[in-house]
Amino acid sequence: MTLTSLQPQFDATAFRRALGHVPTSVCVVTTADDDGPTGMTVGSFTSISLDPPLVGFFAGSGSSTLSRIRGAGTFTVSLLNDGQGALCQAFARKGQDPFAGVPLVAGDHAAPRLAEALGWIDCEVDSVVTIGDHDVVVGRVVRLDVPPLPRRPLVFFRGTLCQLDARTVPNQGNWQRDHYAEW
Ligand SMILES: Cc1cc2nc3c(=O)[nH]c(=O)nc-3n(C[C@H](O)[C@H](O)[C@H](O)COP(=O)(O)O)c2cc1C
Repeated sequence: MTLTSLQPQFDATAFRRALGHVPTSVCVVTTADDDGPTGMTVGSFTSISLDPPLVGFFAGSGSSTLSRIRGAGTFTVSLLNDGQGALCQAFARKGQDPFAGVPLVAGDHAAPRLAEALGWIDCEVDSVVTIGDHDVVVGRVVRLDVPPLPRRPLVFFRGTLCQLDARTVPNQGNWQRDHYAEW
C-alpha cells in the first residue's frame, strides 16, 4: 500500500483544530498599485533563504490581495506587535477599508508600512507557486527595518490572539548560545 492511497481519517474541523496548536506570528502583507493600497493578515509568514534573502507566505488562491501583489510585483510585511490585534482583525475582514484611520510610516517601497509594527520587510515578488488551495508567495527581500524598541509580537494560537510570555524556558544549558547563532 502506498501513502497516496491513504484517505484522510479526519475532517476540516479536526484539521483546523490540530493545526491551530502551531503558534504563528501575525503579520499584515500590503501592496499598492494604481487602485491604491491593499493588504491582508497572514499567519503563514516565514523566512526561507539567507543567500539569496528570501521570505514567503501562503495566500488562499482566491485572495484579492494575492492577485494585486502578483500585478504590483512588490509587497511589504509589517510584523504586528501584541497591541495591534485590531489591525489583525481589520485586515482579515472583507468589505471595509482596513487602512481607514491607520497610521502608516513612509518607506522607500511603494507598499505601505503599518506604524508601530515590530518591523517591516520590503520584498519584490520572486515566484508564486500553487500548492493545494493556497499559493506560496516567495519574496526577495530588498530592505528591512526593525526599530530597537521593546515591543513584543502578536501570536496566534488555538484560534486566539495571544501575547508572548517573556519568561524563558529553564534548563536550556548552552543550547541557545551554541545553536541560535547558526540561524
Ligand atoms: C490570525 C490570522 C492569520 C491568517 N493567515 C492567513 C494566511 O496565512 N493566508 C491567507 O490566505 N489568509 C490568512 N488569513 C485570512 C485572511 O486575512 C482573510 O481571508 C482576508 O480577508 C483575505 O483578504 P483578501 O481576500 O482580500 O486578500 C488569516 C487571518 C487571521 C485572523
